[in-house]
Amino acid sequence: MPGRFYVTTPIYYVNDAPHIGHAYTTVIADALARWHRLVGDDTYFLTGTDEHGLKVAQSATEAGITPQEQADRNAGRFAEAWELLGISNDDFIRTTEPRHHAAVQAMLQQIHDNGDIELDTYEGPYCVSCEAYYAEGELVDGMCPIHNKPVERLREENYFFRLSRYEQRLIDWIESDPEAIQPVGKRNEVLGFLRQGLDDVSITRTSLDWGVPVPWAEGHVFYVWYDALINYATAIGYGTDDERFRTWWPAVHHIIGKEIIRFHCVYWPAMLMAAGLEPPKHVLVHGWLLLGGEKLSKTVHGQAKLTDIAPARLVEDFGVDGFRHHFLHDQPFGPDGDFSYEAMVARYNSDLANNLGNLLSRVATVVAKKCDGIGPAPDPDSPLAAVAADAYADTAAAWDRIQPSVALDATWRLIKETNAHLESNEPWKMEPGPEVERIMGDALEALRIVTILASPAVPASCQEIWRRIGLPGSPEDQRLPDAGAWGQYPGGLAVEKGDPLFPRIKA
Ligand code: ME8
Ligand code: MG
Repeated sequence: MPGRFYVTTPIYYVNDAPHIGHAYTTVIADALARWHRLVGDDTYFLTGTDEHGLKVAQSATEAGITPQEQADRNAGRFAEAWELLGISNDDFIRTTEPRHHAAVQAMLQQIHDNGDIELDTYEGPYCVSCEAYYAEGELVDGMCPIHNKPVERLREENYFFRLSRYEQRLIDWIESDPEAIQPVGKRNEVLGFLRQGLDDVSITRTSLDWGVPVPWAEGHVFYVWYDALINYATAIGYGTDDERFRTWWPAVHHIIGKEIIRFHCVYWPAMLMAAGLEPPKHVLVHGWLLLGGEKLSKTVHGQAKLTDIAPARLVEDFGVDGFRHHFLHDQPFGPDGDFSYEAMVARYNSDLANNLGNLLSRVATVVAKKCDGIGPAPDPDSPLAAVAADAYADTAAAWDRIQPSVALDATWRLIKETNAHLESNEPWKMEPGPEVERIMGDALEALRIVTILASPAVPASCQEIWRRIGLPGSPEDQRLPDAGAWGQYPGGLAVEKGDPLFPRIKA
């Protein structure tokens, strides 16, 4: 039964240009959104940029421009990168927009009115790269445990959110819903953190003015994280369109990297509770892409940094779909994974050039030679029908469990089985006639189903295959599960034999 699917990426800092770490999360969210549109869910996909705070202000100063200019420049680069990668976001939120300022002020005023925000003094080590205070015990050799950089000492009179009041309610929330935080290792990590007890947190700053003004206290701006998290509410109408907000909230899927788990699994749900709202339905936490064992954004002496690899650079070599397919298939959702150019080449050549590309070109070649270029209809009792049904069921189950790599394995099984079916029947050696027609009809039907199932991952290629096998419209206009049932390739369509869709890449 169709439902509602609201999916978000983190909003990315505009201190820097988009890199493949950002692209990884965004491609996953995009593929999920596309899958949910295929199954007929009302889908809303949000991404955007996080533009306030010290880190952005400092990077603007270094670049000799204003924070707003810095934000405009880099928000544009993120938008361009997502356009290049075929990201189908419904909205792109920027935290400097008036709609966001209004929502932040409305939600935090509400929490203030409810008595959970009070004035206090705070002093401690602060990492500008994280935009976060640390407890002394969390530092590693006096450095930020994430960035391995020196911390600053800040002392401020600030407004504090009474997070400590929400300890038990947060534990109850997570315990009542085993799917709220996935995977389970991350859920346990959050529970462990909660059971150690929570301190109140400082949520305003007077030391900088690049932020959302605190409505009840002149000279204070909100600390960037407490402004940023609210983006997920702003975009669906919080504070401006209550009815719209209620249609989407709390049925959200927040996709995030593991370093921002506390913000999404502790602070954000507590803020929502304090504002009288439900916590998010799902927080889905993935690991880091690593280069030689290092997180992308860590500076490695004398070595190229992967934060310097722009998605566009890899798209030059692999095409948009080669890029998307690699990150969806080779980096299972959850654990850390090493990025490797060689693995990318291998994946492209095996899955795209050999399996999918080869299937398409064989089908088009044999149909041209033996069927006058007209694709025949499939056999309702084809041995491939059961293979297709299994592939469909496994693909759907894996997308539901947020396991893109498993979903693509299942879809590719149908491609491989169809190739094997052709190899064992060798229609290219047969005389034109009913037998060739039957085999080619079956292969075309398998391709039709494959292009629907693979479209969340490699949408542009699937659109092109769909067109070449003579089908009107787009695989993405199809609705599952109906369109996944065997026997719908109509036959009688002109099949086009074009250039190789995925030319092999030399290793
Ligand atoms: O944290 N591997 O923004 P950010 C995998 N503005 N994913 C990676 C990655 C890597 N090596 N590097 C980055 C912020 N990412 C805040 C978020 S949300 C209300 C505010 C991805 O620009 C991953 O999704 O540092 C990670 O969580 C995010 O980019 C951090 O982006
Ligand atoms: Mg970061």
